[in-house]
Amino acid sequence: MADRLKTNDTAGRELHPPRHIAIIMDGNGRWATLRGLPRTAGHKAGAETFRRIATYCKNIGVQYLTVYAFSTENWKRSEEEVGAIMGLLKRYLLEAVDTMEKDHIRLRFFGDMTPIAPELRALAHQTDEISDQLAPGDFQANICLNYGGRDEILRAVRKFAAECAAGEKRPEELDDAMFSMYMDSRGIPDPELIIRPSGELRLSNFLLWQCAYSEFYFTDVLWPDFDEAELDQAIAAYHARDRRFGGVKK
Ligand code: IPE
Ligand code: IPE
Ligand code: MG
Repeated sequence: MADRLKTNDTAGRELHPPRHIAIIMDGNGRWATLRGLPRTAGHKAGAETFRRIATYCKNIGVQYLTVYAFSTENWKRSEEEVGAIMGLLKRYLLEAVDTMEKDHIRLRFFGDMTPIAPELRALAHQTDEISDQLAPGDFQANICLNYGGRDEILRAVRKFAAECAAGEKRPEELDDAMFSMYMDSRGIPDPELIIRPSGELRLSNFLLWQCAYSEFYFTDVLWPDFDEAELDQAIAAYHARDRRFGGVKK
């Protein structure tokens, strides 16, 4: 893993990346429409940006990159668009199966995988198993697929309630740390920085539990145009923030 304290950004400045960055990969459709292309062309370009940004994050020493790829609400889109997104994911996972071991990239999925096509689910299972073989310190990309922050909380609550009903848990023992272990992100620190490109100023159901003290960075750049220098800017903005966590600076 790259030395987190000695990495330089694209302009040669020293960079201290956060440990966990999360990104709402938004603006693919508008990017394509602006070019007179079908929306699916935007998703293809967006998938390339993901590859590039994941590699960059790994190289600068970010440990976790969580990306929003498909929300629980995105099923409202046309069958063609949903099919294209799933097809791109499948292609990425097929590649990942061959390269993640050599590149030391762990891949995990957040979200409810039950309605995902069996073929894609099987591939996700395969990348999961490869990830288990890699070192815990290796870079990890978390792909949010059929993910919704509310759905994640509901699934966690259902599981905890079932364990209480079975006499395995008591409601009084539930605290912040224990509840976190019922989430898809169990064992992973909350993201210090959440980035949303494309000019939208909302979370759209992303990481509702984990974002409690995240710093937010919004940019008008559309996801397919997002690059390493944009990420550097987001990290620089993050460092300019005064994170107080409810306390008072002396
Ligand atoms: C993000 O880009 C990708 C997904 C939501 C799957 P969009 O497809 O939402 O692009 P815009 O927001 O319509 O431009
Ligand atoms: C959020 O983007 C979901 C993903 C990027 C996967 P959307 O484009 O679906 O969000 P809204 O509709 O603008 O809120
Ligand atoms: Mg969008």
